[in-house]
Amino acid sequence: MSRAGGGSDQPRPVLVVDLGAQYAQLIARRVREAHVYSEIVPHDATATEVTARRPAGLILSGGPASVYEEGAPSVDPSLFELGVPVLGICYGHQLMARDLGGEVAATGEREYGATMLTVERPGGVLLADLGAREQVWMSHGDAVTREPDGFRVTARTDRIPIAAMEDPERGLFAVQFHPEVSHTPRGEAVLKRFLYDGCGLLPDWTPVNIVEDAVARIRAQVGDDEVLCALSGGVDSSVAALLVHRAVGDQLTCVFVDHGLNREGEPDQVEETFGRHFGVPLVHVKAQDRFLDKLVGVTDPETKRRAIGEEFIRVFEEIAREHRAARFLVQGTLYPDVIESGSRTAANIKSHHNVGGLPAEMDLELVEPLRDLFKDEVRRVGEELGLPEEVVHRQPFPGPGLAVRIVGEVTAQRLETVRGADRVVREEIRSAGLERETWQAFCVLLADVRTVGVMGDGRTYESPVIVRVVTSEDAMTADWARLPDDVLERIASRIVREVPGVNRVAYDITSKPPGTIEWE
Ligand code: XMP
Repeated sequence: MSRAGGGSDQPRPVLVVDLGAQYAQLIARRVREAHVYSEIVPHDATATEVTARRPAGLILSGGPASVYEEGAPSVDPSLFELGVPVLGICYGHQLMARDLGGEVAATGEREYGATMLTVERPGGVLLADLGAREQVWMSHGDAVTREPDGFRVTARTDRIPIAAMEDPERGLFAVQFHPEVSHTPRGEAVLKRFLYDGCGLLPDWTPVNIVEDAVARIRAQVGDDEVLCALSGGVDSSVAALLVHRAVGDQLTCVFVDHGLNREGEPDQVEETFGRHFGVPLVHVKAQDRFLDKLVGVTDPETKRRAIGEEFIRVFEEIAREHRAARFLVQGTLYPDVIESGSRTAANIKSHHNVGGLPAEMDLELVEPLRDLFKDEVRRVGEELGLPEEVVHRQPFPGPGLAVRIVGEVTAQRLETVRGADRVVREEIRSAGLERETWQAFCVLLADVRTVGVMGDGRTYESPVIVRVVTSEDAMTADWARLPDDVLERIASRIVREVPGVNRVAYDITSKPPGTIEWE
C-alpha cells in the first residue's frame, strides 16, 4: 500500500479529469471525504502533464456530451497506459469503452434518475460491497454495448447490459452510474473500493496530516522572513493565519482592519481569539471614522464597495510600511477559487471586492495555505487547530460588511439600526439550532422608507427592516429558508421591541436566481 499524504511531501493526488465541471468537483470532494487527496485537471491535459503530477489514480468524470458528437471532450488515450489505475464514470465509462476498443452506441435506452442495478456475482473489485440489487443514479443517452477486450462486465440494469466493467489486472474500472451523488446510496462504497483496492491507497488524508503538510510547506516557503496577514474574522483568514502562526510563530503579524461595518461583537472576538487565546501578534486598526467619511453621500452599491475596498488597502499599506521587513502576505484563497480562475470566466455579476486583497503596488509574495482545500475542509482544519466553534462555523459575511445591507447612504445611526436587528436574527437562529442549516441569516435596512405603525396609544412613523434567511450549498443558487412560524414571530417582535427606530419587519422570500442573496 502506498501512502497518499503525510510527511512533508506533497501528497500524491487522485486526479479527477474534468469532462463536465459540476461532476468533477463533486467527485473530488467525495474522494477527499474518503480521506484521499484529490485534485481536478482539465480533460485536455496530456499524459506528460498528468504524469508530472504523480497521480495515485485517475477518475474520468461524467459530462453532458455524447462521445460521438463533433467536438465532444476526450482524453489523451495514453492515459490508460501509464500504469496508473483509472476509474471511468458515466461519460468517462463510455470514453474508456470507446478508446480501449469496445463499443458505444445510441441505443435509445436512455436512463435518467433512480435505477435498479443488478450486480453480477462475484461483484469484482469495485462492486465488492454491493448487494445483488442496488439503487443507483443514472443520467445517459448512449450506452456501452460491447466491453473492450480483457474487461469483465460486473453489473447491468433492465435496460443496459454493461452498467459496470473492470479489468483489475490493468487497473481499469468503469461504471455507467454516478457513485458520487447522494441518490446512489452505496456510491461511497464503490469509490472507496477504487481508492483503497484499485489504487492501493490508505485513508490517511486527515485534518492532522493536512495541518502537518501545510506547516511544513509554509516553513519551507517562508524561511526566516516576516509575514503579514489581513485578518477579517472569517473562517478562511482565521484558519490561514493560524496555520502560518503554527509554522513560523511570531514571524507572523496579523492586521485586523476594523472598518466599523462588522456585526456586533466581532472585533472583540478577533481580539479575544487571536490576541489573547492564541497569542498571535495582532494589530487592531480602529478605522471606523475613516471608512464612514468615505461613505458620506455614497448610495450606489458598486461605488460603495469600491470606496471600502480602496480605503482598506490604504489602511493596510500604512501598517505594512511599519513592517517594511515583511516579505510575505497570507491569503485565504480556496481550491474553488483556484479552479474557477483556471476555467472560463463566469459572468461577473457583482464586483466581489476581495477586501483583504493584495494591494497591487505592494511587493509581497503570497502564502496561500488553503489553496488545495474546499470550504468544509477548511472548517475541519480549523477545528483541528482549536479555533472556537463560533468562528469555524461562522456564516459567510461580505467583505464590505453591513454597508451592503444598508440600501442608500451608510451612516453611524443606520449602522446601529441594522447591527441591532442583525444581532436579534443571529441570536434567534442560533437558539433555534438553525445556524448550520441555513447559509446566511441577516437584516437589510432600506433607504428613506418609513411606514406607519402603532405603539401604545400613539402612531409611529419609522423604518421597516427586511429579514433575509437563505439555504444554499455554494452561494451560486439559494432558496429562502422555511423558518418555523414561532422563530419568525420571535424575530419580528424582538426587532420591533429592541431596535430603536424600527416598527415593521418583512421576510424576503425571493430565491436566487432571480434575486441575489445580498440586497446590494
Ligand atoms: P450574492 O449577493 O451575489 O452573494 O448572491 C453571494 C455570496 O457572496 C457574498 N458577498 C460578498 N462577499 N464581498 C464579499 O467578500 C462582497 O462584496 C460580497 N457581496 C456578496 C454574500 O454574502 C453571499 O454569501
